[in-house]
Amino acid sequence: MDRNEQLAVGRRLLGHIDGRTTDLADALFRNRVDAYACRERAARERDALFRSQPLFMGLSSRMPRPGDFITEDVAGLPVLLVRGPDGAVRAFANICRHRGAPVAEGCGNARAFVCPYHGWTYDARGALLGVTDKIGFGGLDTGAHGLVRLAAGEKHGMIFLRATPVQEGESAEIDVDAVLGALASDFEALRPDTYPLHSVDRITPRLNWKFAVDTFLEGYHIPHLHRKTIAPYFIGNCGTFDGAGRHGRMCVARTSIEAVRPLPEDERNFQPHIIAIYQLFPNTIVIWQVDHIEIWRAFPDREDPGRCDIEFSLYRPADSDRPEKHWAKNRDIAIRTVMEEDFPLGERMQVGFESGATAEVIYGRNEPSLVHFHSSIRSALGVAA
Ligand code: FES
Ligand SMILES: [Fe+2]
Repeated sequence: MDRNEQLAVGRRLLGHIDGRTTDLADALFRNRVDAYACRERAARERDALFRSQPLFMGLSSRMPRPGDFITEDVAGLPVLLVRGPDGAVRAFANICRHRGAPVAEGCGNARAFVCPYHGWTYDARGALLGVTDKIGFGGLDTGAHGLVRLAAGEKHGMIFLRATPVQEGESAEIDVDAVLGALASDFEALRPDTYPLHSVDRITPRLNWKFAVDTFLEGYHIPHLHRKTIAPYFIGNCGTFDGAGRHGRMCVARTSIEAVRPLPEDERNFQPHIIAIYQLFPNTIVIWQVDHIEIWRAFPDREDPGRCDIEFSLYRPADSDRPEKHWAKNRDIAIRTVMEEDFPLGERMQVGFESGATAEVIYGRNEPSLVHFHSSIRSALGVAA
């Protein structure tokens, strides 16, 4: 958010605190519980969301130098992201063109990717540099057997990928500003490119991936579920919400916001008192937390709609002289709150969804981010419910 936007959001939050109100959705929203539990719905989401939409993959500081690479399985597709010698990030299916072994594992830095199975070698542009038995593969057109290209894009220090092969004549570039839409100006002001990576953690809770996203999309539960942990620091059930295409931005206030109230407008700085929670469609939550950025990315399990893979990463500002233990403490608080309070309850709720005893869940008007998220999923899937 730029300063003007931040002042406007701060004023809205102070108004809500005064009136004991919060931004509201137009109406109650009912969602079928099988949206969280049904295999057919999961298959539709894989195809229409995870294999079709641009997906946020992380900040640029995950792979800052030429040769840096990361690998991931995206809804069943093994992908490889590489920063080339020219500085550009490219994406490929991490599948050797000989017999399909992954050509890279984990993350790191490499000048070339040598397949572990029979040693075929690819460069950072995905070109097949050579095969290990020239006679056995005589006549093979190596120029036509590079790694399968996926579309990728990078701007504002943010990397996106589309997990589907680029077709003949199609661009391999993702226009990041077009993807971000109305949120582009917020991220331009936030300067994610100035945040180095601090830590990455992975967890695999027994709940649907949408549930993991839902966890972050309302402050209604904070005074209840987090009563003994983070609740004293936040104004519960009070927030602003702004939709931006299928993305959304929710802001909540820390109790410390009262320090800003008596100040004249030109002396006001809401930044230490507002948490901005961006929902990047479909599966990413970016939380601008006072002095750092926390990112949660949720991916469906390949088989089971009741499981997901979650990556939590924390990025700290490059210009901060805070000691390492400050960031480690923030990481611990985030993980402990979610792992010890949100997800254990969520796993019990997933059991309830799968039991078939109830048909639907209800999102209140005071949960506009949830309403927007699930409406956006329906519109992307082309389903009415
Ligand atoms: S599968 Fe990669 S070289 Fe054989
Ligand atoms: Fe929570």
